[in-house]
Amino acid sequence: MKKLLADALADDPRVEQAIQMILDALTDQQANLTNHRSPDPDLKAAYDQSIEQFGKMRGGKLYYPYLSSGFGNGALVELADGSAKYDFVTGIGAHPWGHAHPDMVRTGLHAALCDTVMQGNLQQSTHCTTLVRTLLDQACKSGATLEHCFLTTSGAMANENALKIIFQKKTPANRILAFEGCFMGRSITLAQITDKPAYRLGLPQTIAVDYVPYFDPRNPQASTDRALAVLKRHLARYPNQHAAMCFELVLGEGGYYPGDTGFFTTLMKELKTNDVPVMIDEVQTFGRTTRLFAFQHFGLDDYADVVTIGKLSQVCATLFTDQFTPKPGLISQTFTGATSSIFAAQKIIDTLTSDGFFGTDGRIMKLHDHFVNQLNAIGQRLPGSVQGPFGLGAMIAFTPFDGHIETVKNFIAALYEAGVIAFLAGANPARVRFLMPLGTVTTQDIDAVCSIIEATLAKTKRS
Ligand SMILES: Cc1ncc(COP(=O)(O)O)c(C=O)c1O
Repeated sequence: MKKLLADALADDPRVEQAIQMILDALTDQQANLTNHRSPDPDLKAAYDQSIEQFGKMRGGKLYYPYLSSGFGNGALVELADGSAKYDFVTGIGAHPWGHAHPDMVRTGLHAALCDTVMQGNLQQSTHCTTLVRTLLDQACKSGATLEHCFLTTSGAMANENALKIIFQKKTPANRILAFEGCFMGRSITLAQITDKPAYRLGLPQTIAVDYVPYFDPRNPQASTDRALAVLKRHLARYPNQHAAMCFELVLGEGGYYPGDTGFFTTLMKELKTNDVPVMIDEVQTFGRTTRLFAFQHFGLDDYADVVTIGKLSQVCATLFTDQFTPKPGLISQTFTGATSSIFAAQKIIDTLTSDGFFGTDGRIMKLHDHFVNQLNAIGQRLPGSVQGPFGLGAMIAFTPFDGHIETVKNFIAALYEAGVIAFLAGANPARVRFLMPLGTVTTQDIDAVCSIIEATLAKTKRS
Protein backbone atom coordinates (compact mmCIF):
# COMPACT_ATOMS: atom_id res chain seq x y z
CA MET A 1 0.00 0.00 0.00
CA LYS A 2 1.28 3.45 -0.91
CA LYS A 3 2.54 5.43 2.06
CA LEU A 4 0.76 8.72 2.70
CA LEU A 5 2.86 11.86 2.65
CA ALA A 6 1.69 12.59 6.21
CA ASP A 7 3.20 9.29 7.37
CA ALA A 8 6.38 9.92 5.41
CA LEU A 9 6.76 13.27 7.18
CA ALA A 10 6.03 11.79 10.62
CA ASP A 11 8.56 9.00 9.96
CA ASP A 12 11.30 11.32 8.66
CA PRO A 13 14.21 10.82 11.09
CA ARG A 14 14.87 14.59 11.10
CA VAL A 15 11.48 15.11 12.77
CA GLU A 16 12.35 12.80 15.67
CA GLN A 17 15.82 14.34 15.94
CA ALA A 18 14.38 17.86 16.07
CA ILE A 19 11.81 16.87 18.68
CA GLN A 20 14.48 15.19 20.76
CA MET A 21 16.65 18.31 20.63
CA ILE A 22 13.73 20.44 21.80
CA LEU A 23 12.92 18.01 24.62
CA ASP A 24 16.58 18.00 25.69
CA ALA A 25 16.54 21.81 25.88
CA LEU A 26 13.30 21.62 27.85
CA THR A 27 14.66 19.15 30.40
CA ASP A 28 17.83 21.22 30.82
CA GLN A 29 15.74 24.25 31.76
CA GLN A 30 13.39 22.21 33.92
CA ALA A 31 16.35 21.19 36.08
CA ASN A 32 16.31 24.85 37.21
CA LEU A 33 12.72 24.69 38.42
CA THR A 34 12.36 22.26 41.29
CA ASN A 35 10.71 24.32 44.00
CA HIS A 36 8.31 27.20 44.51
CA ARG A 37 9.86 30.64 44.72
CA SER A 38 9.03 34.33 45.24
CA PRO A 39 8.78 36.92 42.46
CA ASP A 40 11.91 38.53 41.07
CA PRO A 41 11.92 42.12 42.45
CA ASP A 42 13.13 43.41 39.03
CA LEU A 43 10.07 41.96 37.28
CA LYS A 44 7.45 42.59 39.94
CA ALA A 45 6.38 46.19 39.13
CA ALA A 46 5.94 45.55 35.38
CA TYR A 47 4.12 42.29 36.17
CA ASP A 48 1.65 43.94 38.54
CA GLN A 49 1.00 46.59 35.92
CA SER A 50 0.31 44.05 33.19
CA ILE A 51 -2.08 42.16 35.48
CA GLU A 52 -3.99 45.38 36.08
CA GLN A 53 -4.04 46.31 32.39
CA PHE A 54 -5.16 42.84 31.41
CA GLY A 55 -8.04 43.01 33.87
CA LYS A 56 -9.12 46.33 32.37
CA MET A 57 -8.82 45.10 28.77
CA ARG A 58 -10.84 41.95 29.41
CA GLY A 59 -13.47 43.86 31.35
CA GLY A 60 -12.95 42.13 34.70
CA LYS A 61 -10.18 41.54 37.22
CA LEU A 62 -8.43 38.16 37.15
CA TYR A 63 -9.25 35.91 40.12
CA TYR A 64 -5.53 35.50 40.78
CA PRO A 65 -2.66 37.75 39.68
CA TYR A 66 -1.63 34.81 37.48
CA LEU A 67 0.12 35.23 34.14
CA SER A 68 2.21 32.22 33.27
CA SER A 69 5.54 32.74 31.53
CA GLY A 70 4.72 29.70 29.37
CA PHE A 71 7.13 27.49 31.28
CA GLY A 72 6.83 24.96 34.05
CA ASN A 73 7.96 21.62 35.41
CA GLY A 74 5.22 19.16 36.31
CA ALA A 75 3.18 20.57 39.20
CA LEU A 76 5.25 23.77 39.21
CA VAL A 77 4.38 26.73 37.01
CA GLU A 78 6.65 29.70 36.36
CA LEU A 79 4.83 33.04 36.36
CA ALA A 80 5.97 36.04 34.35
CA ASP A 81 7.15 37.81 37.53
CA GLY A 82 9.75 35.07 37.97
CA SER A 83 7.87 33.36 40.81
CA ALA A 84 7.04 29.67 40.77
CA LYS A 85 4.01 28.03 42.37
CA TYR A 86 2.61 24.57 42.90
CA ASP A 87 -0.42 24.45 40.65
CA PHE A 88 -2.93 22.27 42.50
CA VAL A 89 -5.96 23.54 40.64
CA THR A 90 -4.62 23.29 37.05
CA GLY A 91 -7.13 25.65 35.47
CA ILE A 92 -9.89 23.79 37.39
CA GLY A 93 -8.77 20.43 36.07
CA ALA A 94 -7.77 21.47 32.56
CA HIS A 95 -4.06 20.55 32.71
CA PRO A 96 -3.90 17.02 34.07
CA TRP A 97 -0.25 16.65 33.03
CA GLY A 98 0.70 19.92 34.74
CA HIS A 99 3.09 22.34 33.07
CA ALA A 100 5.42 21.70 30.13
CA HIS A 101 5.30 17.94 30.59
CA PRO A 102 7.63 16.37 27.99
CA ASP A 103 4.85 14.01 26.78
CA MET A 104 2.54 16.97 26.17
CA VAL A 105 5.30 18.97 24.47
CA ARG A 106 6.13 16.02 22.21
CA THR A 107 2.43 15.53 21.40
CA GLY A 108 2.06 19.25 20.64
CA LEU A 109 5.07 19.20 18.32
CA HIS A 110 3.56 16.32 16.35
CA ALA A 111 0.25 18.21 16.20
CA ALA A 112 2.08 21.28 14.89
CA LEU A 113 3.12 19.24 11.85
CA CYS A 114 -0.53 18.71 10.89
CA ASP A 115 -1.95 20.73 8.03
CA THR A 116 -4.37 22.88 10.05
CA VAL A 117 -4.29 24.51 13.46
CA MET A 118 -7.98 23.82 14.13
CA GLN A 119 -10.39 21.02 13.26
CA GLY A 120 -14.15 21.20 12.89
CA ASN A 121 -17.25 20.88 10.79
CA LEU A 122 -15.66 20.82 7.31
CA GLN A 123 -12.13 20.02 8.47
CA GLN A 124 -11.79 16.76 10.37
CA SER A 125 -8.67 14.61 10.26
CA THR A 126 -8.21 10.90 10.88
CA HIS A 127 -7.07 11.85 14.40
CA CYS A 128 -10.65 12.87 15.25
CA THR A 129 -11.94 9.47 14.10
CA THR A 130 -9.44 7.67 16.32
CA LEU A 131 -10.28 9.87 19.32
CA VAL A 132 -14.03 9.43 18.91
CA ARG A 133 -13.59 5.64 18.55
CA THR A 134 -11.46 5.56 21.72
CA LEU A 135 -14.02 7.56 23.70
CA LEU A 136 -16.91 5.37 22.56
CA ASP A 137 -15.04 2.10 23.22
CA GLN A 138 -14.08 3.30 26.69
CA ALA A 139 -17.59 4.61 27.45
CA CYS A 140 -19.19 1.27 26.52
CA LYS A 141 -16.66 -0.90 28.37
CA SER A 142 -18.99 -1.97 31.14
CA GLY A 143 -22.40 -1.99 29.52
CA ALA A 144 -23.37 1.56 28.53
CA THR A 145 -24.82 1.87 25.03
CA LEU A 146 -23.40 5.26 24.03
CA GLU A 147 -23.00 4.83 20.29
CA HIS A 148 -22.26 8.39 19.22
CA CYS A 149 -19.79 11.08 20.23
CA PHE A 150 -19.78 14.69 19.03
CA LEU A 151 -16.63 16.70 19.76
CA THR A 152 -16.69 20.35 20.74
CA THR A 153 -14.61 23.15 22.23
CA SER A 154 -15.95 23.70 25.76
CA GLY A 155 -17.84 22.01 28.55
CA ALA A 156 -20.65 24.52 28.12
CA MET A 157 -20.92 23.73 24.40
CA ALA A 158 -20.93 19.98 25.15
CA ASN A 159 -23.82 20.57 27.56
CA GLU A 160 -25.62 22.84 25.09
CA ASN A 161 -25.36 20.14 22.42
CA ALA A 162 -26.60 17.57 24.93
CA LEU A 163 -29.65 19.66 25.82
CA LYS A 164 -30.41 20.35 22.16
CA ILE A 165 -30.46 16.69 21.18
CA ILE A 166 -32.51 15.85 24.27
CA PHE A 167 -35.08 18.60 23.68
CA GLN A 168 -35.39 17.65 20.01
CA LYS A 169 -36.06 14.05 20.97
CA LYS A 170 -38.48 14.93 23.79
CA THR A 171 -40.32 17.84 22.17
CA PRO A 172 -42.66 19.42 23.37
CA ALA A 173 -41.25 18.80 26.90
CA ASN A 174 -39.71 22.09 28.03
CA ARG A 175 -38.53 21.62 31.62
CA ILE A 176 -35.27 20.29 33.07
CA LEU A 177 -34.58 18.63 36.41
CA ALA A 178 -31.26 19.31 38.14
CA PHE A 179 -29.61 19.13 41.55
CA GLU A 180 -29.52 21.96 44.02
CA GLY A 181 -26.01 23.43 43.97
CA CYS A 182 -25.23 22.17 40.45
CA PHE A 183 -23.00 23.89 37.91
CA MET A 184 -23.39 23.27 34.19
CA GLY A 185 -21.75 26.23 32.50
CA ARG A 186 -22.45 29.82 31.59
CA SER A 187 -24.32 29.98 28.29
CA ILE A 188 -27.66 31.77 28.60
CA THR A 189 -29.51 28.48 28.99
CA LEU A 190 -26.93 26.72 31.18
CA ALA A 191 -26.82 29.71 33.51
CA GLN A 192 -30.52 29.01 34.20
CA ILE A 193 -29.72 25.44 35.27
CA THR A 194 -26.55 26.30 37.22
CA ASP A 195 -27.91 26.85 40.73
CA LYS A 196 -26.29 30.22 41.39
CA PRO A 197 -28.39 33.39 40.94
CA ALA A 198 -25.30 35.65 40.59
CA TYR A 199 -24.30 33.81 37.40
CA ARG A 200 -27.60 34.67 35.66
CA LEU A 201 -28.07 38.20 36.88
CA GLY A 202 -29.89 40.17 34.17
CA LEU A 203 -30.26 37.24 31.79
CA PRO A 204 -33.63 36.36 30.27
CA GLN A 205 -35.17 33.14 31.50
CA THR A 206 -35.00 30.59 28.68
CA ILE A 207 -35.78 27.34 30.44
CA ALA A 208 -37.77 26.13 33.46
CA VAL A 209 -35.72 24.17 36.01
CA ASP A 210 -36.95 22.04 38.91
CA TYR A 211 -34.34 21.30 41.58
CA VAL A 212 -33.84 18.12 43.56
CA PRO A 213 -31.78 18.11 46.81
CA TYR A 214 -28.40 16.36 46.73
CA PHE A 215 -27.07 13.35 48.61
CA ASP A 216 -25.98 13.84 52.22
CA PRO A 217 -23.29 11.30 53.26
CA ARG A 218 -24.13 11.93 56.92
CA ASN A 219 -27.61 10.64 56.28
CA PRO A 220 -27.62 8.49 53.12
CA GLN A 221 -31.07 6.90 53.40
CA ALA A 222 -32.94 10.00 54.59
CA SER A 223 -31.36 12.18 51.90
CA THR A 224 -32.16 9.60 49.22
CA ASP A 225 -35.79 9.36 50.41
CA ARG A 226 -36.07 13.12 50.48
CA ALA A 227 -34.63 13.57 46.97
CA LEU A 228 -36.94 10.85 45.62
CA ALA A 229 -39.97 12.48 47.21
CA VAL A 230 -39.08 15.87 45.70
CA LEU A 231 -38.44 14.29 42.29
CA LYS A 232 -41.81 12.52 42.39
CA ARG A 233 -43.52 15.78 43.29
CA HIS A 234 -41.97 17.59 40.32
CA LEU A 235 -42.87 14.75 37.96
CA ALA A 236 -46.46 14.74 39.20
CA ARG A 237 -46.81 18.52 39.08
CA TYR A 238 -45.58 18.75 35.46
CA PRO A 239 -46.50 15.44 33.81
CA ASN A 240 -44.58 14.72 30.55
CA GLN A 241 -42.97 18.15 30.65
CA HIS A 242 -39.45 17.19 31.75
CA ALA A 243 -37.01 16.66 28.88
CA ALA A 244 -34.25 15.25 31.15
CA MET A 245 -32.59 15.30 34.53
CA CYS A 246 -28.99 16.55 34.65
CA PHE A 247 -26.66 14.68 36.99
CA GLU A 248 -23.36 15.90 38.39
CA LEU A 249 -21.98 12.79 40.09
CA VAL A 250 -19.72 14.88 42.31
CA LEU A 251 -20.96 18.43 42.86
CA GLY A 252 -17.96 20.43 41.63
CA GLU A 253 -18.55 24.17 41.95
CA GLY A 254 -21.09 23.17 44.59
CA GLY A 255 -18.33 22.03 46.96
CA TYR A 256 -17.02 18.52 46.09
CA TYR A 257 -19.92 16.54 47.45
CA PRO A 258 -19.92 13.05 45.91
CA GLY A 259 -23.20 11.18 45.56
CA ASP A 260 -23.49 7.42 45.87
CA THR A 261 -24.68 4.52 43.78
CA GLY A 262 -27.87 3.85 45.78
CA PHE A 263 -28.83 7.52 45.67
CA PHE A 264 -28.28 7.86 41.92
CA THR A 265 -29.94 4.58 40.95
CA THR A 266 -33.00 5.36 43.08
CA LEU A 267 -33.53 8.60 41.18
CA MET A 268 -32.56 7.19 37.79
CA LYS A 269 -35.01 4.27 38.13
CA GLU A 270 -37.81 6.73 38.86
CA LEU A 271 -36.82 8.79 35.83
CA LYS A 272 -36.80 5.72 33.58
CA THR A 273 -40.27 4.76 34.84
CA ASN A 274 -41.45 8.21 33.80
CA ASP A 275 -39.57 8.12 30.47
CA VAL A 276 -37.32 11.04 31.46
CA PRO A 277 -33.78 10.71 30.02
CA VAL A 278 -30.66 10.80 32.20
CA MET A 279 -28.01 13.32 31.22
CA ILE A 280 -24.69 13.04 33.07
CA ASP A 281 -22.37 16.05 33.15
CA GLU A 282 -18.82 14.71 33.54
CA VAL A 283 -17.04 17.89 32.57
CA GLN A 284 -15.24 17.94 35.94
CA THR A 285 -15.32 14.25 36.95
CA PHE A 286 -14.03 12.66 33.71
CA GLY A 287 -10.75 10.83 34.34
CA ARG A 288 -10.61 11.64 38.06
CA THR A 289 -12.22 8.64 39.79
CA THR A 290 -11.43 4.91 39.76
CA ARG A 291 -12.69 4.66 36.16
CA LEU A 292 -12.36 6.87 33.09
CA PHE A 293 -16.02 7.87 33.39
CA ALA A 294 -17.45 8.60 36.83
CA PHE A 295 -20.73 6.93 35.75
CA GLN A 296 -18.66 3.73 35.50
CA HIS A 297 -17.19 4.34 38.96
CA PHE A 298 -20.74 4.55 40.37
CA GLY A 299 -22.02 1.63 38.25
CA LEU A 300 -24.59 3.70 36.35
CA ASP A 301 -23.83 2.28 32.89
CA ASP A 302 -27.43 1.10 32.33
CA TYR A 303 -28.86 4.57 32.88
CA ALA A 304 -26.56 6.84 30.85
CA ASP A 305 -28.53 8.31 27.92
CA VAL A 306 -26.37 11.38 27.25
CA VAL A 307 -22.95 12.07 28.81
CA THR A 308 -20.74 15.13 28.47
CA ILE A 309 -17.02 15.41 29.15
CA GLY A 310 -14.50 18.26 29.24
CA LYS A 311 -11.54 19.84 31.03
CA LEU A 312 -9.09 16.91 31.50
CA SER A 313 -10.12 15.55 28.09
CA GLN A 314 -8.80 18.74 26.37
CA VAL A 315 -11.44 18.32 23.68
CA CYS A 316 -14.97 18.34 25.06
CA ALA A 317 -17.64 15.94 23.84
CA THR A 318 -21.26 14.84 24.01
CA LEU A 319 -21.79 11.06 23.93
CA PHE A 320 -25.29 9.70 23.35
CA THR A 321 -27.28 6.57 22.67
CA ASP A 322 -28.71 5.94 19.23
CA GLN A 323 -32.20 7.12 20.13
CA PHE A 324 -30.87 10.68 20.64
CA THR A 325 -29.37 10.96 17.16
CA PRO A 326 -30.20 14.56 16.14
CA LYS A 327 -31.79 15.61 12.89
CA PRO A 328 -29.31 17.17 10.41
CA GLY A 329 -28.42 20.79 11.20
CA LEU A 330 -29.14 20.70 14.93
CA ILE A 331 -25.49 20.49 16.02
CA SER A 332 -22.53 21.62 13.97
CA GLN A 333 -19.47 23.80 14.62
CA THR A 334 -16.71 25.54 12.68
CA PHE A 335 -14.29 24.47 15.41
CA THR A 336 -14.50 21.21 17.36
CA GLY A 337 -11.02 21.64 18.80
CA ALA A 338 -7.42 22.61 18.08
CA THR A 339 -5.37 19.88 16.43
CA SER A 340 -3.00 20.06 19.41
CA SER A 341 -5.87 19.45 21.84
CA ILE A 342 -7.12 16.48 19.81
CA PHE A 343 -3.62 14.96 19.92
CA ALA A 344 -3.28 15.75 23.64
CA ALA A 345 -6.69 14.18 24.37
CA GLN A 346 -5.62 10.95 22.69
CA LYS A 347 -2.33 10.84 24.56
CA ILE A 348 -3.96 11.57 27.93
CA ILE A 349 -6.77 9.04 27.53
CA ASP A 350 -4.43 6.33 26.18
CA THR A 351 -2.04 6.83 29.11
CA LEU A 352 -4.80 6.94 31.72
CA THR A 353 -6.34 3.73 30.43
CA SER A 354 -3.11 1.76 30.03
CA ASP A 355 -0.79 2.94 32.78
CA GLY A 356 -2.31 1.89 36.11
CA PHE A 357 -4.20 5.10 36.92
CA PHE A 358 -7.60 3.54 37.58
CA GLY A 359 -8.99 0.96 39.98
CA THR A 360 -9.38 1.13 43.73
CA ASP A 361 -5.61 0.75 44.15
CA GLY A 362 -4.61 2.68 41.02
CA ARG A 363 -2.40 5.76 40.91
CA ILE A 364 -5.33 8.19 41.29
CA MET A 365 -6.59 6.60 44.51
CA LYS A 366 -3.04 6.31 45.88
CA LEU A 367 -2.52 10.03 45.31
CA HIS A 368 -5.92 10.70 46.88
CA ASP A 369 -5.09 8.66 49.99
CA HIS A 370 -1.69 10.31 50.40
CA PHE A 371 -3.13 13.82 50.15
CA VAL A 372 -6.09 13.07 52.43
CA ASN A 373 -3.84 11.43 55.06
CA GLN A 374 -1.61 14.49 55.06
CA LEU A 375 -4.60 16.83 55.45
CA ASN A 376 -5.96 14.71 58.31
CA ALA A 377 -2.57 14.87 60.03
CA ILE A 378 -2.56 18.67 59.68
CA GLY A 379 -6.05 18.74 61.20
CA GLN A 380 -4.77 16.80 64.20
CA ARG A 381 -1.78 19.07 64.68
CA LEU A 382 -3.88 22.24 64.27
CA PRO A 383 -7.24 21.42 65.86
CA GLY A 384 -10.20 23.30 64.38
CA SER A 385 -8.37 24.29 61.20
CA VAL A 386 -9.38 21.44 58.83
CA GLN A 387 -12.91 20.14 58.36
CA GLY A 388 -13.06 17.17 56.02
CA PRO A 389 -11.22 16.32 53.81
CA PHE A 390 -13.95 15.75 51.23
CA GLY A 391 -14.14 14.72 47.59
CA LEU A 392 -13.36 11.69 45.48
CA GLY A 393 -10.26 10.52 43.56
CA ALA A 394 -8.30 13.42 42.15
CA MET A 395 -10.88 15.94 43.38
CA ILE A 396 -10.11 16.86 46.97
CA ALA A 397 -11.37 19.65 49.23
CA PHE A 398 -11.40 20.71 52.84
CA THR A 399 -13.06 23.44 54.85
CA PRO A 400 -10.60 25.72 56.60
CA PHE A 401 -11.76 26.86 60.06
CA ASP A 402 -15.47 27.81 60.13
CA GLY A 403 -15.91 27.75 56.33
CA HIS A 404 -17.17 31.33 56.25
CA ILE A 405 -16.80 32.54 52.67
CA GLU A 406 -14.50 35.43 53.59
CA THR A 407 -12.30 33.18 55.79
CA VAL A 408 -11.93 30.73 52.90
CA LYS A 409 -11.25 33.43 50.31
CA ASN A 410 -8.58 34.98 52.55
CA PHE A 411 -7.03 31.58 53.18
CA ILE A 412 -6.88 30.80 49.44
CA ALA A 413 -5.27 34.19 48.76
CA ALA A 414 -2.69 33.58 51.51
CA LEU A 415 -2.00 30.12 50.13
CA TYR A 416 -1.44 31.61 46.69
CA GLU A 417 1.04 34.13 48.10
CA ALA A 418 2.81 31.27 49.89
CA GLY A 419 3.21 29.28 46.65
CA VAL A 420 0.18 26.99 46.18
CA ILE A 421 -2.67 27.56 43.76
CA ALA A 422 -6.00 26.16 44.95
CA PHE A 423 -9.58 27.31 44.39
CA LEU A 424 -12.88 27.96 46.11
CA ALA A 425 -15.87 25.60 46.02
CA GLY A 426 -19.31 25.61 47.58
CA ALA A 427 -20.81 28.05 50.06
CA ASN A 428 -22.05 27.84 53.66
CA PRO A 429 -19.61 26.34 54.42
CA ALA A 430 -17.19 27.15 51.62
CA ARG A 431 -14.29 24.84 50.82
CA VAL A 432 -10.83 24.92 49.29
CA ARG A 433 -10.62 22.52 46.36
CA PHE A 434 -7.65 20.90 44.71
CA LEU A 435 -7.44 19.38 41.23
CA MET A 436 -3.96 17.92 41.21
CA PRO A 437 -2.09 17.43 37.95
CA LEU A 438 -2.65 13.70 38.31
CA GLY A 439 -0.51 12.70 35.32
CA THR A 440 2.66 14.17 36.79
CA VAL A 441 2.22 14.98 40.48
CA THR A 442 4.40 13.08 42.96
CA THR A 443 3.93 12.33 46.65
CA GLN A 444 6.87 14.71 47.25
CA ASP A 445 4.87 17.48 45.53
CA ILE A 446 1.89 16.67 47.76
CA ASP A 447 4.11 16.78 50.85
CA ALA A 448 5.57 20.15 49.80
CA VAL A 449 2.07 21.52 49.18
CA CYS A 450 0.83 20.20 52.53
CA SER A 451 3.64 21.85 54.46
CA ILE A 452 2.70 25.17 52.79
CA ILE A 453 -0.97 24.53 53.67
CA GLU A 454 -0.03 23.82 57.28
CA ALA A 455 2.16 26.92 57.62
CA THR A 456 -0.59 29.07 56.06
CA LEU A 457 -3.27 27.62 58.36
CA ALA A 458 -1.05 28.19 61.39
CA LYS A 459 -0.40 31.79 60.31
CA THR A 460 -4.09 32.47 59.62
CA LYS A 461 -5.00 31.00 63.02
CA ARG A 462 -2.60 33.31 64.81
CA SER A 463 -3.68 36.48 62.98
C1 LIG B 1 -19.67 20.18 35.92
C2 LIG B 1 -19.34 21.24 34.92
N1 LIG B 1 -20.07 21.35 33.81
C3 LIG B 1 -19.81 22.28 32.87
C4 LIG B 1 -18.77 23.16 33.00
C5 LIG B 1 -18.51 24.20 31.95
O1 LIG B 1 -17.32 23.92 31.26
P1 LIG B 1 -16.57 25.08 30.46
O2 LIG B 1 -16.04 26.05 31.44
O3 LIG B 1 -15.48 24.34 29.70
O4 LIG B 1 -17.57 25.68 29.53
C6 LIG B 1 -17.95 23.08 34.14
C7 LIG B 1 -16.84 24.03 34.34
O5 LIG B 1 -16.36 24.28 35.43
C8 LIG B 1 -18.24 22.09 35.12
O6 LIG B 1 -17.50 21.97 36.25
